[in-house]
Amino acid sequence: MTYILLTGGAGYIGSHTALALLRAGYQVISFDNYSNSSTTALQRVAQLANSNIITLSGDIRDEAALSAVFRQYQISAVVHFAGLKAVGESTEMPLHYYDNNVAGTVTLCRVMREFKVKKLVFSSSATVYGDAKTVPIDETAPRSATNPYGQSKLMIEHILEDLVKAEPDWGITLLRYFNPVGADSSGQIGEDPNGIPNNLMPFISQVAVGKRDKLSIFGDDYPTPDGTGVRDYIHVVDLAAGHLKALQYLESQQGIEAINLGTGTGYSVLDMVKAFSSVNKVAVPYQIAPRRPGDIASCYARPDKALKLLGWQAEKTLEDMVRDSWRWQRQNPNGYGNSN
Ligand code: NAD
Ligand code: UFG
Repeated sequence: MTYILLTGGAGYIGSHTALALLRAGYQVISFDNYSNSSTTALQRVAQLANSNIITLSGDIRDEAALSAVFRQYQISAVVHFAGLKAVGESTEMPLHYYDNNVAGTVTLCRVMREFKVKKLVFSSSATVYGDAKTVPIDETAPRSATNPYGQSKLMIEHILEDLVKAEPDWGITLLRYFNPVGADSSGQIGEDPNGIPNNLMPFISQVAVGKRDKLSIFGDDYPTPDGTGVRDYIHVVDLAAGHLKALQYLESQQGIEAINLGTGTGYSVLDMVKAFSSVNKVAVPYQIAPRRPGDIASCYARPDKALKLLGWQAEKTLEDMVRDSWRWQRQNPNGYGNSN
């Protein structure tokens, strides 16, 4: 029996991908240190899939612990979600971010090589495009980073490119996610941020459920149709399906490819607020606030390469995104901490 190893499998995107893999008949192992997640997520995944998932607690920087996993289980490929992702925190704790994200990835790759497992799907980000000169953004756009989080993703992309140059028998896919939102339609698993959410959709959901007074919209004077920032929001269930396609693609491929996972459509902050209110019939009070430092006006993908190489494209609508985000929030007002 062979397994797919998910590092960070208990997190937001990892748990949705675990569910998609189990439903497609894969055997799945999650290896997570639970620094930003809960064991409950994977218990629910197993229930939803009516299947077992091996859940291991450990840190990707712990080479001995990782080696033990590879020794015990026959692993055919790794999907590497484990990482810290809060932009603001990364500027306050750069060493922690570089250690966790970059050093952790190097350790993971060393162990993979030792056990001759050379298929890797890596969670990269549209953040590697920095402030792109033109939209839609394709994979050949110049890369840059403006904070340690983005820098860590960029460094990992370079490290993996160098690895493939030196050892061409690796097969690596860099999946550059745009803005993941939404939740499984069961409302059982979803995004559970710690403290005050940094990201738009969890903030909107927490305002709607009454946990926060109002949303601050960061700037209404951007050069966009309504002046608020434009992003490519992608449903996490579509994103999970993209990982399945990437794993299938790697079965017959070597080398390294960067692939955007986005819808190709940009929505503004006001579009998101209005869609959330009207679809869910719930009020989302907001105020216009100053721009958030480091934010860009507009960012959305050219998703053609994913269709061409993986046969993948996003299928969920904006309505699906806001409806599913709300169902998760309403059913779990306190996330996994204290679910209804
Ligand atoms: P998440 O925080 O929900 O999941 C990450 C998981 O990794 C968590 O369960 C956490 O406990 C675990 N983890 C962190 N460091 C670890 C370590 N050293 N060892 C073992 N486990 C560790 O985040 P997510 O939204 O599911 O993101 C998954 C990946 O996708 C991350 O690498 C993130 O940078 C990337 N990404 C996320 C977004 C987004 O907006 N959510 C966008 C682009 C890229
Ligand atoms: N926004 C608000 N108010 C809020 C939060 C966000 O107006 O309370 C606005 C932002 O200004 C931006 C848009 O909503 O215009 C989206 O902001 P998010 O913080 O949700 O997402 P970002 O595009 O800033 O960044 C996210 C992740 C990054 C990742 C990037 C690309 O946080 O880690 O998407 O994948 F790199």
